[in-house]
Amino acid sequence: DALISDKITPSEWGQHLGQSSSSLINASTWGLMLTGRILKEKDEEGLASTMRSMVKRMGEPVIRTAVGQAMKELGRQFVLGTNIEKAIARAKTMEAKGYTYSYDMLGESARTEKDAIKYHIAYSDAITALAPYCKSDSIHRNPGISVKLSALHPRYEIGKKDRVMSELTSRVFGLALLARSANMNFNIDAEEMDRLDLSLDVIEEVLSNPALAGWDGFGVVVQSYQHRASFVIDWLYMLAKKLDRKITVRLVKGAYWDAEIKRAQVMGLEGFPVFTRKVNSDVSYLSNARRLLDMTDHIYPQFASHNAHTVTAIMEMAVSQRVSRKNYELQRLHGMGESLHNTVVKQEKVSCRIYAPVGAHSDLLAYLVRRLLENGSNSSFVNQIVDDSISPEQIAADPFAKVRDLGDAIENPYLTKPKDIFAGVRLNSKGWDHTDIPTIDALDEQRGKFRTHQWQAHPLIEGHQSTAEAKPVFNPADPSEQIGTLVRATAEDVEKALAASAEGFAQWSGKPVEERSAILKRVGELYEAHASEFFAIATREAGKTMLDGIGEVREAVDFAYYYAAEAERIEMEAKEEREARGTIACISPWNFPLAIFSGQIFAALAAGNAVVAKPAGPTGIMAFRAVQLMHEAGVPEAAIQLLPGSGSVVGTPITSDPRIAGVCFTGSTDTAQTINRAMAATLSPHAPLIAETGGLNAMIVDSTALPEQAVRDIISSSFQSAGQRCSALRMLYVQDDIFDKVLEMLKGRHPTIVVGQPLGLVNRYRSGYR
Ligand code: FAD
Ligand code: 2OP
Repeated sequence: DALISDKITPSEWGQHLGQSSSSLINASTWGLMLTGRILKEKDEEGLASTMRSMVKRMGEPVIRTAVGQAMKELGRQFVLGTNIEKAIARAKTMEAKGYTYSYDMLGESARTEKDAIKYHIAYSDAITALAPYCKSDSIHRNPGISVKLSALHPRYEIGKKDRVMSELTSRVFGLALLARSANMNFNIDAEEMDRLDLSLDVIEEVLSNPALAGWDGFGVVVQSYQHRASFVIDWLYMLAKKLDRKITVRLVKGAYWDAEIKRAQVMGLEGFPVFTRKVNSDVSYLSNARRLLDMTDHIYPQFASHNAHTVTAIMEMAVSQRVSRKNYELQRLHGMGESLHNTVVKQEKVSCRIYAPVGAHSDLLAYLVRRLLENGSNSSFVNQIVDDSISPEQIAADPFAKVRDLGDAIENPYLTKPKDIFAGVRLNSKGWDHTDIPTIDALDEQRGKFRTHQWQAHPLIEGHQSTAEAKPVFNPADPSEQIGTLVRATAEDVEKALAASAEGFAQWSGKPVEERSAILKRVGELYEAHASEFFAIATREAGKTMLDGIGEVREAVDFAYYYAAEAERIEMEAKEEREARGTIACISPWNFPLAIFSGQIFAALAAGNAVVAKPAGPTGIMAFRAVQLMHEAGVPEAAIQLLPGSGSVVGTPITSDPRIAGVCFTGSTDTAQTINRAMAATLSPHAPLIAETGGLNAMIVDSTALPEQAVRDIISSSFQSAGQRCSALRMLYVQDDIFDKVLEMLKGRHPTIVVGQPLGLVNRYRSGYR
């Protein structure tokens, strides 16, 4: 119903369908294709108007029925049964033709312990229900089960490794033991790459348990679209050898390609963890298949593909590597690759297993989207095979030859590299992958150099040294740990800075905009070069985690590049000459001690102003290092001066002195009002106050959202992007299931939750939450 009212209300439907290149419409187009109503582009307009007039004539109930039917058919296409009993019954037809099954219980990325337990029980019930059907002595003839680790633990992430290794590992072990008792193949699916390393730790721990000794049914999936595939295979082989048993390895190309590309871009990583051309994934697949076929003493390979070239090549390689049909199998997904695999099973007598999702439609979305992407992508074999304009020779062309022909042009030029996502405007800030073990180790090592460092911070005023006393600064997470000292500015220091700023303004505003921008970019580069020191300060002075420290530096660097580029653009587009204002007072809060502090200053500097900056009381060291680097980059010392200190000694004078040409402030609304009044009384009437107070992140979650993802984004936007303990979370009109999950995740954190929700729901949560 929500989907209908969001997307298919009469006017909306017409608007989108007639002219859409959106993936949603392409996906539904593909959905309609499945139901036999094949849409060609030229017919779209016809369908759109038919649809519109249909809605006008018959109204929403008809659409509801039609959409309901389409959903059911989509579900049936990709899901074997809504529960394990129904799935087992429906599997009989294909089993009679010689196929075996690997059942997958729908549900992944559990966000709450409740969900994880639900999925855990579903898997455990499924294994129990399948046990009586495991009649063969050979595991490879029996039904199997495919498990997604992300379903079994709500914090399956590298930052929670200790919990994962104790809690998730014991859940997986419990299920594996049950599968062992039933003599079935127990397979761990491969998911997003940020969990690869962690998944291998879990796998090693579970597999090494002596209770599983002598069992050959443990399986792991390896994705060939990623660069690490061959290393993972070698590692698995060594593990199997060490434990003296056979494991199964399912080789796939991988189902999360789009997500991996986007993640690397968003995170500003050096490159992509996956190949960027389809042929490279194909070549990697075949190379790794050959590797696996050489390892059959300890590995039973399972080759999962819907690509006829790939499947044929595997069978050829098996023959030439003298691997008998008994020692490997092929696999396909339920609802895909039927005719290819029917031919193989019948003509070539190679075993084939069908991966069969089982579960309710409410748990289908993530899986379904991956199948729609796979079917809808024009690079996919299954998409090309139904495209008459592509010849069989093209579809089945030798990928090795294609790769060879590419030569040095091996990287896909159509994929924007992470550092270039703002190309044409500015550079992207460099990111660090906090889920990648070598990156974490390197960060820890570099940050470690500042583990005991003592910073000596003080005001930075042109031609003047403060004589005030240096006071010790302590780590807020460990008040016994001193991290250095800070000299807070006195009234005299403030006066000296204000006096010097006129000369700073003259020097700085006299430089051409290109020069100022180049210096700001240099500041960004210096921030990146000193990132590990900033990470250490973020933790030791502001109590931030590594992840928040990374966000801090990246945002600050983005500000440097952004304002440098904006200043040049504005200058170029300006119709008349523009002048800087003078000296701007910048006052920033502790929660983004580098990002907001720097952002305010860069904006003012980019436009040619001088700045006197008052950092937040608790984060003077961070500000001190930042301003030192600004000076090092070439901003004149009088153009950016640092005045750490209290509101009364520093804040009040720099917001009420007529030498100040404007104020940039981030903080509470009350303080902003005070500043506003002080400015009105003493500053030029033209002096602007730029105040950012009480920021709220607005997020619109519509009916097409994956609830798990929406929940993750709500939580991280309140607790990470906000940079502070979230004391109030406002949720307006969220779906019940999202609301429930957010509350569950917030247990123990006790924020005030403000809901704008139909009264019934508010009443449900009245007790316990304000
Ligand atoms: P093809 O069309 O030949 O290849 C598609 C592959 O090429 C995809 O991986 C796609 O991402 C990749 N590709 C497309 N464009 C590019 C590009 N520009 N650069 C690089 N690569 C590109 N997937 C998982 O991730 N984890 C699993 O646990 C898993 N289990 C599976 C189990 C079974 C039985 C099957 C059949 C599939 C499973 N998959 C899994 C899904 C699988 O990854 C896809 O079905 C598979 O990638 C399709 O490959 P193909 O050979 O059939 O198709
Ligand atoms: C997926 O869930 C089949 O594991 C694969 O997309």
